[in-house]
Amino acid sequence: MDPFVAATGRVAEGHLTRPSGDHHASFLTAMREFHAAGHYHNWPLPATQQSFASFLADLELAITCPLPGYVPEQTFWLVVEGQVCGVLHFRNPLNAALRQFGGHVGYTIRPSKRKQGLGSRILQLGLPLIWQVAPSLERILLTCYENNPASQRIIERNGGRWENTLHLAGHPSAIRHYWIEQPVA
Ligand SMILES: CC(C)(COP(=O)(O)OP(=O)(O)OC[C@H]1O[C@@H](n2cnc3c(N)ncnc32)[C@H](O)[C@@H]1OP(=O)(O)O)[C@@H](O)C(=O)NCCC(=O)NCCS
Repeated sequence: MDPFVAATGRVAEGHLTRPSGDHHASFLTAMREFHAAGHYHNWPLPATQQSFASFLADLELAITCPLPGYVPEQTFWLVVEGQVCGVLHFRNPLNAALRQFGGHVGYTIRPSKRKQGLGSRILQLGLPLIWQVAPSLERILLTCYENNPASQRIIERNGGRWENTLHLAGHPSAIRHYWIEQPVA
């Protein structure tokens, strides 16, 4: 059973699931939208069953055997009414680069599905899952650009506490740092 469903019993308004062959067609549609919008260009468009299986295997490997210079990363898909509508990444532990920009969690909503509350929903669904897969983590870092008000809103409404704002060369905007603490059981 999906870990989020197992943890919360909730299935309404979509759920997070680990990447799987169940959503191949829908994932391809989402990826075409992401690519057109300039996101996930480093991800291939795994159109054949074989290339999709190998793509899924790479995502699985990233959890335990990341590429050199990368930290372990878990990927989850937001599925609403059978369609892949968003992607959430959880990275742990942080490295120096992620401490400055990237943080523990990143998320993206498929362009055609934005402004419907799914950005807020993906993080809402992601938090209990993160505490489940990393129970000893006391808090998580989220970063977002100052010129990304939607992401700021998503983080703040999910309990993010602003820490500071960095100005780093090479970035299009200042970077806001937020922390979300694991609720005490
Ligand atoms: C940022 C992103 C996830 C937002 O997704 P979304 O599904 O549109 O978000 P929601 O519909 O849940 O909106 C969240 C809040 O932001 C507000 N919002 C949405 N778009 C906005 C915009 N362009 N300007 C200002 N506020 C905006 C919404 O009104 C909502 O506020 P509310 O809760 O007070 O109503 C989406 O635009 C995206 O995937 N962007 C590219 C990747 C990215 O920036 N990820 C975040 C990295 S930190």
